[in-house]
Amino acid sequence: MKIKVVDLNPERIKTKLLAIPLKDKKEKIDIIKDKKYLAERVIKIGIKEFDSENLRKFGARAINYAKDFELDEITIVFPNVKNVQEASQALTEGILLGSYEFKKFKTKKEDKPVKQVNFVAKNLKKIKKGIQVGEIISKYVSLARDLVNDPANHVTPDAFADRISEISKRNKLKVKVYGEKEIEKMGMGCFLGVAQGTRKEPRLVVIEYRGNKKKDLYALVGKGVTFDSGGISLKPSQGMHEMKGDMSGAAAVTCAINAIAELKLPINIIAVVPCVENMPGGNAMKPGDVLKSMSGKTVEVINTDAEGRLALADAIYFVAKKKPKAIIDIATLTGACVVALGYNVAGLVGNDEKLLNSIFKAGEKTNERVWKLPLYEEYSKAIKSDIADIKNIGYDNGAAGPLTAAAFLKEFVGKTSWAHIDMAGTFWAKTNKDYFKKGATGWGVRLFVELFRSFSVK
Ligand code: BES
Ligand code: ZN
Ligand code: ZN
Repeated sequence: MKIKVVDLNPERIKTKLLAIPLKDKKEKIDIIKDKKYLAERVIKIGIKEFDSENLRKFGARAINYAKDFELDEITIVFPNVKNVQEASQALTEGILLGSYEFKKFKTKKEDKPVKQVNFVAKNLKKIKKGIQVGEIISKYVSLARDLVNDPANHVTPDAFADRISEISKRNKLKVKVYGEKEIEKMGMGCFLGVAQGTRKEPRLVVIEYRGNKKKDLYALVGKGVTFDSGGISLKPSQGMHEMKGDMSGAAAVTCAINAIAELKLPINIIAVVPCVENMPGGNAMKPGDVLKSMSGKTVEVINTDAEGRLALADAIYFVAKKKPKAIIDIATLTGACVVALGYNVAGLVGNDEKLLNSIFKAGEKTNERVWKLPLYEEYSKAIKSDIADIKNIGYDNGAAGPLTAAAFLKEFVGKTSWAHIDMAGTFWAKTNKDYFKKGATGWGVRLFVELFRSFSVK
């Protein structure tokens, strides 16, 4: 799809569909017949506010309207706003993400896509810049969605590593993929414990972006469980297919670092993702097993379904040794986080208020919202093991699930400034809504791009 901007009088534009945003409390579409327009059809779309989130929604509604009527071209009257570039970016995101589809496995591709979108506006330069930024971001949110929607027999740990490596190398990023032998050599016993139950080899993917050599290095760590069956602590079958998306954290950080590289933000990032499948094979880890982490700490596995924290523990420790200014990890970590916060907000914990505040702000700005939860020392007490240093779950009844999980991760960050994002509720959309399609949301990419944009202007 091509998005461009033209400086013309909306009334004089020959287009198949002219969409006009209208500030209105009622969110509705009015089809109007008015001789003063040369357009074949004119619709007015009521939107609450001309802020970024509502403009993303507006973009999605306009494009989906055009698609429903099989129009290959549409013109949008650019809204009258203060921050033109930001609005243009949001509108572009809404259009591109709103028309996202995952058609890879459909044998009949009868779709008639919209090919051309025109904005009519005055401030061409800023709008062009906004389109450009919005296009880059949407490309990587869509890639994250693709990786999550693509099933686990296609996105195996090595396939994930290959696919993201290829893309990252094209963006001139430094990429290193560690195989099973190397993971063993580094002593990542917790990560390997998860890999035991499957015939698929694990991978540790490390991607580095240097946008400004003189500045600090930030670390991102994403959970890359390409399928989570629960292992020997097998999950119930209902909804289990969604666990192909248990690598959404890995998709978020690897797609974000590529977006940031393409946007050329003056900042340095290292992204680390442990890719592994959690299966109940004959050699699988068992409840009661004790694993030795790379840090040397021993871990008693009480529940093999609490596998994400095992893989993350070694990945976090690995990157902490590089002394980054801060580590941010992101994971579809606990069902209990969905119980606490639902499907539109992710959980946030950490040891550095300033870092947490920056993430919160980026969340408000992108509408990929996070909400802070406490990390008191009782949660750390709850993961003490009788026979090892720590155990991989807290209370038997699942109390404070997201926080005992976070307390577990905290054991591996040392003194590094750290934040943890639990995206178990936000990685998946139950229905088509606004600029989301049923399935993967690509959540986290926009959040990280905005966070690092805010860091790079400081
Ligand atoms: N991947 C799941 C968490 C999850 C659940 C993500 C639902 C997205 C939607 C994770 O590995 C898991 O199974 N966690 C357990 C932890 C428990 C055993 C302490 C859970 O949430 O039940
Ligand atoms: Zn699990
Ligand atoms: Zn999991």
